[in-house]
Amino acid sequence: MNDFEPTVIAFVCNWCTYTAADLAGTSRLSYPPNVRLVRVMCTGMVDPQYVLKALLEGADGVLVSGCHPGDCHYINGNYKARRRIKLLKALLPQFGFAPQRLRLTWIGASDGIEFAHVMQELVDQVRELGPSEAKTKMVL
Ligand code: FES
Repeated sequence: MNDFEPTVIAFVCNWCTYTAADLAGTSRLSYPPNVRLVRVMCTGMVDPQYVLKALLEGADGVLVSGCHPGDCHYINGNYKARRRIKLLKALLPQFGFAPQRLRLTWIGASDGIEFAHVMQELVDQVRELGPSEAKTKMVL
C-alpha cells in the first residue's frame, strides 16, 4: 500500500480554477503530478456521468472545482454543480465507491497557492483511502 500513487481527475472551470492552476505553474508552485486536469467551461456542465466514468475507469479520486458562489460566468452553473455533487456523493456508495473520493471546491483565478494546497490535500486524502474500489473489488 505504501507504493500506491493515486490518480485524481480534476474537472476545473476555465475561468477560475484552471486559471489558478496556470498561476500556480507560472508561480513555480509545486503540486502532486497525480492530478489530471480536465478543463471545462463551467462546473455546471460537469455531468454526473463524467464523474462515474472516471471512477469506473480507474480514477482513485475526482475533483470538481470552479468559481466561488456568485462568481460563475454563467450565473448559476456552480450552484447547479453544488446540488449535483451533493446528490452524487449520496449515491456513490450504491455504485460501490466511498463518497470521499469525490470533492467539490471553489478556487478563484488568483488563488494559485490555494490550488496547490487543495491538490496536495486531495491527493493525500485519496492516498489514505487507497486504490479505487473499481480496482479492488466488483462495483456496480
Ligand atoms: S463559470 Fe466557473 S463555475 Fe461557472
